[in-house]
Amino acid sequence: MTETPLRFGLIGTGRIGQVHARSIAADPGTTLAWVCDPIVEGARSVAAAYGGRVTESAEEVLAAGDVDAVLIASPTPTHVDLIGAAVSAGIPVLCEKPIDLDIARVDALRPAVAGSGVPVALGFNRRFDPSFAAARARVAAGEIGELEQLSIISRDPSAPPAAYVAVSGGIFRDMTIHDFDMARFFLPDIVEVRAAGSVLFDAGAREHGDYDTAVSTLLASSGAMVTIINSRHSAVGYDQRIEAFGSQGMLQVANAPTSLVSLSTASAVEAKPPYQDFFLERYAEAYAAELREFVKLVRGEASSSPSFEDGRAALILADAAQRSAETGLIVRVDVG
Ligand SMILES: NC(=O)c1ccc[n+]([C@@H]2O[C@H](COP(=O)([O-])OP(=O)(O)OC[C@H]3O[C@@H](n4cnc5c(N)ncnc54)[C@H](O)[C@@H]3O)[C@@H](O)[C@H]2O)c1
Repeated sequence: MTETPLRFGLIGTGRIGQVHARSIAADPGTTLAWVCDPIVEGARSVAAAYGGRVTESAEEVLAAGDVDAVLIASPTPTHVDLIGAAVSAGIPVLCEKPIDLDIARVDALRPAVAGSGVPVALGFNRRFDPSFAAARARVAAGEIGELEQLSIISRDPSAPPAAYVAVSGGIFRDMTIHDFDMARFFLPDIVEVRAAGSVLFDAGAREHGDYDTAVSTLLASSGAMVTIINSRHSAVGYDQRIEAFGSQGMLQVANAPTSLVSLSTASAVEAKPPYQDFFLERYAEAYAAELREFVKLVRGEASSSPSFEDGRAALILADAAQRSAETGLIVRVDVG
């Protein structure tokens, strides 16, 4: 018997909201019931393309009575209040990362989420990238023996505008947060963080006391180590690679090219076109898989959706990295 599609309220129709609208409309297990954005033109154009009723008010979505789940894709400072309102209305939530930039606000919301029994998942989409997920499954299956070192290289094509950097919470909370979650995908129990940052090229980072270049080193309770290398720019395009090194071998995930066609001439061999441009392209499949996993969570089936606790853990690691970069200290953490 085919199940009735889950009816979603989408809150926020900016860059990532539009990606989720497309996934919800494309998935036979989900449908768009409401589309909400205070910039109502944005909501209207998403609803015209993918369906749903339009509103400027998230409260209207939560009170409508015909919503089975909400997807929060509004700016980070709105997440805590919206998650709180949704769980008190008994409506499951898939919320974009990060929960918030301030761990005190996350901790204040934590008991309400835990006590509600309402499913809350975080949008750590990279866990659902087919290649990263396969690498992790193969580590878990013992193909490389004991995992000893995990290397994560994560570089954006170009630095964001200075106005974005000003409110981003800094490179660790804004950008590395995905990599901290990826580290925990392989090694959940991180116990120690050290990090360093530098400003090499971005005036916005310099102006706002941020870094454009960073390296974080994490220690897991097993003794395994993680290195995360970040840059806010990359002349070669979006650079997203992982290497898992174990006692019996190594698993590597390379960058995704835009095409598998290569050109060989007298001056170069196997010249390939550029890498996929940025996250919307590179992780298109991951966003769709993330949604399918969340649907399982809402339906009470076994699900690997990252939880509120995973969102909190990633922020704790980001805070620790920020502190380590500022002080030079090694920071102990408890995120197991
Ligand atoms: N997982 C990922 O790969 C990924 C990628 C980009 C952004 N994000 C996260 O998604 C969130 C949104 O980022 P974005 O780049 O799409 O931002 P954006 O600015 O492009 O879009 C945000 C939208 O939310 C709307 N909005 C503002 N307040 C609202 C409210 N109270 N209710 C409903 N809508 C509201 C804005 O009008 C805007 O249209 C951020 O938390 C960001 O960190 C995640």
